[in-house]
Amino acid sequence: MLITFEGIDGAGKTTIARMTLNFLKQKGVDAVLFREPGGTKVGEIIREVLLNLDVDPLLELLLFEASRRSLVVEKIIPSLREGKTVILDRFCDSTLAYQGFGRGIELSFVRKLNYVTTQGLEPDLTFLLDLDPLKAIERVREKTRFENLEFLKKVREGFLKIASEEKRIILIDADRPIEYVFNDVRERIEESIK
Ligand code: TYD
Repeated sequence: MLITFEGIDGAGKTTIARMTLNFLKQKGVDAVLFREPGGTKVGEIIREVLLNLDVDPLLELLLFEASRRSLVVEKIIPSLREGKTVILDRFCDSTLAYQGFGRGIELSFVRKLNYVTTQGLEPDLTFLLDLDPLKAIERVREKTRFENLEFLKKVREGFLKIASEEKRIILIDADRPIEYVFNDVRERIEESIK
């Protein structure tokens, strides 16, 4: 099973993804968690570039895909083959929302790249942690070049549009204490384990 967490910066994905990992392990599920960009040697180097250097939108897209390719080949596919449940802190929907809706790169091109990079791998379940960009920005302490209000507004709209078109995506209100957010996630995962 492949579970992904998506949403704008500050929505709490990383915390919720970790809580999910612990919850699954407690249930005896063999689960692993990876993050994007990063998660491999190549990916972590690309991550440094992406977070610190101002590159043009197409190069940005290609770097995210390069990091993803490394994670897919080195970690995701091998883990799934071993029967593990894979949890991802961001995946293809982030690229569609940030580089497609946010930076304005043609959506069909981003989709195609996502498809090629992942060999058509699709999450079984995706949680979109939704939050007002204004509140999200307040929550983010160390800001990167992605935490800009106007940009995040476009990204959020993008995520909501994608969620309205994809059945696998579950919309979660992230403007609540973390226990409430996690409770919704846990309930959905328990349902799908059954
Ligand atoms: P990260 O530092 O993991 O942010 P967070 O902790 O909020 O999840 O991710 C770095 C940034 O990369 C984040 O602002 C979102 C952005 N991003 C894209 O623009 N496209 C992508 O495909 C991915 C995976 C991330």
